[in-house]
Amino acid sequence: MALLEIKVNGRDHQLLVDATASLLTVLREHLHITGPKVGCETGDCGACSVLVDGKLRRACLTNALSVQGAAVVTAEGVGGSGTLHPIQKAFYENHASQCGFCTPGMIMASKALLDENPNPNEMEIKEALAGNLCRCTGYINIIRAVKDAAEKMAHGGGNR
Ligand code: FES
Ligand code: FES
Repeated sequence: MALLEIKVNGRDHQLLVDATASLLTVLREHLHITGPKVGCETGDCGACSVLVDGKLRRACLTNALSVQGAAVVTAEGVGGSGTLHPIQKAFYENHASQCGFCTPGMIMASKALLDENPNPNEMEIKEALAGNLCRCTGYINIIRAVKDAAEKMAHGGGNR
């Protein structure tokens, strides 16, 4: 076991973790933050996507101790207290979520994209979300939601 110091969604944590524990295990089993989903656990589905120091990462493939001292953001942390982030609002308004399993990862991949590129075209959105699989929506409403979120954010629609 080793000491992990990490900030998650703005809160500092100190935890004793197994040296082989993934970030996904630490988030879900130690901190009970369940936005990041356990999908494939092989890096293929994107359901576990989080931001680590602003960069999109697969939590299932990330050794927790390798991100010692990092700031992690999950879907629970993108909005303000009790408010939806414009990306979450756009997913809701555009019916971009059906079963919802992929949605937290899609939100994080969309946030990573829009943080880097506030006005992506459709191809750039598809490329940015290519690592995030959805079994339900056919992706059309998800792409529409990301475009809508970009517009909302361009017009001062909320927190970045
Ligand atoms: Fe991490 Fe599928 S659970 S990529
Ligand atoms: Fe069901 Fe995407 S909404 S997997």
